[in-house]
Parts: sequence; C-alpha cells; structure tokens
Amino acid sequence: MKSIKNLKNIKGKTALVRVDFNVPIKNGKIEDDFRIKKALPTIKFLQKKGVKVILISHIGKDGKQSLKPVVNYLKKFIKKDIVLFENIRRQEGETKNSSEFAKKLSKLGEIYVNDAFSVSHRNHASIVGLPKYLPSYAGFQLEEEVKNLSKITKNKKHPFLFILGGAKFSTKMPLIKKYLKLADHIFIGGALLNDFLKAKGYEVGKSLVSDTKGIKEILGNRKLILPEDVIVSLPAGRHGSGNKLMNKKISEIKKSEIILDVGSSTEKILAPIIKKSKLIVWNGPLGKYEEGGDKATKAILKLVLESKNQVVIGGGDIVNVLSKLKAKNYKLKANLFVSTGGGATLDFLSNGTLPGIKALG
Ligand code: 3PG
Repeated sequence: MKSIKNLKNIKGKTALVRVDFNVPIKNGKIEDDFRIKKALPTIKFLQKKGVKVILISHIGKDGKQSLKPVVNYLKKFIKKDIVLFENIRRQEGETKNSSEFAKKLSKLGEIYVNDAFSVSHRNHASIVGLPKYLPSYAGFQLEEEVKNLSKITKNKKHPFLFILGGAKFSTKMPLIKKYLKLADHIFIGGALLNDFLKAKGYEVGKSLVSDTKGIKEILGNRKLILPEDVIVSLPAGRHGSGNKLMNKKISEIKKSEIILDVGSSTEKILAPIIKKSKLIVWNGPLGKYEEGGDKATKAILKLVLESKNQVVIGGGDIVNVLSKLKAKNYKLKANLFVSTGGGATLDFLSNGTLPGIKALG
C-alpha cells in the first residue's frame, strides 16, 4: 500500500477519501464517535497539504439512513471547507460494484485515499472500484489497522480465545467454521447464542433467532463454549412496572421470556481460560446492552483487560462499552488494540488481507 505520507505536488488537487462513518446515531445524536475521530488525522493531513477533500461514506446496511448528523458533528473538528457525500449506499452502483459507477465517481477527484479499514472487506465500488481509475493511497487509519493486526496474523499466539457475540448465525457461520480451526476456544454470546441453544433443543422463548442451517455440523465441536445460564427479561404484567430481569439456567427458560444476556456464571467459566490464553480476539457484545443486557460484557471485558494478554477488540457496540470503562480511568494491563472494524477485522485476521487493501496494491 502506498502511504499518503509520500504524496508529492498535491497542492490544489482533489482527493476522494473513503471513510467509514457508519456510526450509531440515536435521535440525531452520534452515540459513538470512535470511527469519526480515527479518520481525522488523514483528513487534516490532506487539508494541510492544500488538498480539497471529498469524503465518501455509507451509513447503515441500505441507503435509508442519512449522514446529515455527521456533517454537524464534523464541523466541531474540521474548520476548513470539506465535502461529505450523502450515504453512498443510496447509489445502486455502490454495492453492485458497478465499474460504470466507479468510473463516474472517479471523475470527481484526482487521487483516491482509502481510510475505511472497517468496510474494506466489501467488494463495493467506493472500495475496490475507485482504485482502478485513480492513483490510490492508504490513509493513516487503514495503515494503523494493518500494522497492528498483521502482528497477530504473522505470529498467532496460543492458547487463542475467540469471544463472539452479536447476532445471526446465518451470516456468521463461515466465520465460526474458520475460527474453529484457528482458535483453541470459542465462546458464544449475544443473540448468536439463542441460535445455538435452539439448535441444541432448548426453549429460547421470544428471543431473537435466525436461520440455523448448518449449525448441527459444529454443535459437538469441543472448542465451542456456551454459557450455562442466561439473563432473561420476564413478560410484562407478572411484576410491577419496569423490565424485570432474572438469571436462569439455560434449561429453565420459558416460552414467554426473552434472553438478554449471558448469565452470571459466565465469568467463572471464562476466568481460567482468559488467564491461560495468550491471545484474545473479541467481536460483538454478549448481550442486548441497550435493554439492560450489559452486565456480562462489562464483567468479562474487565477480566480481559486485566489479563496480560494480547487483546484485539472490534465491533461498534463493544468499543462503546470500552470507551465508558476508559472514561472511568480504567486500569489496563492487556496489550490492547481496539480495531475500528467488525466483520473486516475478523476477515483480516483469518485471511491476512482484505479486498480493499489488495485493490490499493
Ligand atoms: C461495519 O460497521 O462493520 C462497517 O461499516 C461495514 O458495514 P456493513 O456490514 O454494512 O458493510
């Protein structure tokens, strides 16, 4: 990858800079600005060199969400003129990786900079299409991710614990299969756990489940660790006002209940494994933290950070929990790298590269 540091004679030129401003926004307010802040050094560097910057980003899976709240937010940090295109996924050619679209887009700038590691696993026009038509460079954030994550891909330490939360077995199955080969233990939490419990024949009540096709092949794998208990939310009406949460064994979940988090014994199960691990990769929260399912994630995160392991954490929600801990001056012992990526980080750790990185080569 060519670095923007080596760019010469660029004063007055226009750069198309792909960033990832796919950040959580609630009622127009940015809830976690980690990804935005990580893109600022590249933007400021280019502006200082006299380059006109056009930012390209997506937000959300489809084109429905708007990047407008990000514009107002950026004004706090960037004082010079800057252009931010509206959600690129509103353009049909983006996710279809249309060459016609990429070519048209490329006409708006003279150089292309990828500073969006977290979306570089996508074969989209603004990631792999644009570099075909413009001199292309890696931004600082992308370089930092590759440098740090490569240390791990080149020297995978064992025992290697992989903690996987979030949702949807159907989309995570290839990843789980891959990590069953790479890691020594895989702990499953989040809504993903519901799929595993359902496949094992447990009642999961009204919890979120996805298509579990293919899960049977891996259920018996001894590397998989599932919690022994969960936190459920009880149906309204049986108790006073508010959402009542209860810790229950996985065999005691009722039809009317919703699993919100892994249970209190998870800490006990994971503590010795965390202690003897050399490498921990964690992606996705263990519970539905916006509904009170945040206890286990916080407790396990503390255990992980207090270990002296090499730790990689990725995925928006978990990074959010981490920032809250850090805000309380939390003492960190682990050799921690916080990645801006979710899926991209996991793909990079298993393949050593990503389509967006290859496209810059
Ligand atoms: C992410 O949040 O992981 C990136 O922005 C990529 O988003 P996507 O999964 O919608 O492509």
